[in-house]
Amino acid sequence: MHILLTGGAGFIGSNFVRLLLRERPDYRITNFDVLTYSGNLENLSEIEGDDRYAFIRGDVRDAAALDKALEGVDAVVHMAAESHVDRSIMDSGPFIDTNTRGTQVLLDAWRRATGGKKRFVYVSTDEVYGSLPLENPEIKFTEATPLDPSSPYSASKAGGDLLANAYHHTFGMDICTTRCSNNFGPYQFPEKVIPLFVTNLLDGKQVPLYGDGKNVRDWLHVDDHCEAVLTVLEKGTSGEVYNIGGNNERSNLELTRSILEIMGKGEEMIRYVEDRLGHDRRYAIDAGKIKRELGWQPTRSAWPKALEDTVRWYTDNRPWWERVRSGAYQDYYANMYGG
Ligand code: NAD
Ligand code: DAU
Repeated sequence: MHILLTGGAGFIGSNFVRLLLRERPDYRITNFDVLTYSGNLENLSEIEGDDRYAFIRGDVRDAAALDKALEGVDAVVHMAAESHVDRSIMDSGPFIDTNTRGTQVLLDAWRRATGGKKRFVYVSTDEVYGSLPLENPEIKFTEATPLDPSSPYSASKAGGDLLANAYHHTFGMDICTTRCSNNFGPYQFPEKVIPLFVTNLLDGKQVPLYGDGKNVRDWLHVDDHCEAVLTVLEKGTSGEVYNIGGNNERSNLELTRSILEIMGKGEEMIRYVEDRLGHDRRYAIDAGKIKRELGWQPTRSAWPKALEDTVRWYTDNRPWWERVRSGAYQDYYANMYGG
């Protein structure tokens, strides 16, 4: 089995490559990634010599490059994306271009390569469902929840999500879609809340908590997400959507307090800052379908142990995050958080 993974140099992609090589000795994986600010081959340095792994620097918007890369490939896992909500609020152009148009270019290339007869997994997000109210904690997103994206990022992912469904319906292509909640773990770019807060604290800086800190996210360890994507790739039913989540809802204030406690810091390290525009209040995933139908459930997200391990990873890997914070990232970081 030869898999082409797009976006394999990013956070989830690099963890997926490692998991696949570890758990499927007879698989090969090609990582197709253009290396934006968040794509970093250093994330994969430990597997560079593995002859089951190959890297192609390429853009999912480049049909000719895809035609070449897809020769001899048995399945595609599509993760490449612009992934950060705050950036999409500052400039939505690259999000529409990569997440929506790039998905269309890739779907067309896969159709040319295989007639759509081989599996394509579109890694979508729970954010396509929009926001849930805090007042009804029993309500969660199911696969039947209508799409109602509310940020430029989630709208651009919903564009790809709808196209994947349309290509299955129109051309009979073998496509599954996954919609996962917030991931945490090693190699996450330190613009996302957990690595941002941990690395700020390691540098003696305060952490910028948006609004009232009551927004809720459902946290899942990245290895659980990768295992779920692999399960869908191997066992999912064509045309189906699978929610993936940790049943692990925390308000941002609870999450921040847990990080402060693990790191031995006090509440004075919290800086309440202006809220994100259009900030989604709550995400919560009902992951019953993937458990019932494919037998997947999280095994690596137990709280607070998984969070403690993640904090330790950033503590032990200062050279990694110091490097990714330098260069092109520096201006963005300075703009958003004052350096
Ligand atoms: P990331 O930003 O860490 O990585 C994205 C990767 O895509 C990078 O390596 C980047 O270089 C590559 N890329 C971007 N544009 C490209 C293009 N035009 N052509 C080829 N490669 C390109 O993102 P992530 O957090 O690892 O997210 C991966 C996927 O999972 C995304 O599709 C995201 O929407 C989805 N997702 C993320 C989460 C989460 O919590 N991080 C949760 C659910 C779904
Ligand atoms: O739900 C899945 C999504 O999770 C993925 O599709 C996205 O790619 C991923 O980035 C993530 O989106 P969020 O916007 O939820 O993640 P982020 O880490 O940016 O923010 C998490 C919460 O923390 C959110 O409520 C905003 C808040 N926050 C974030 C930052 C960066 C802060 O309070 N302060 C911050 O500085």
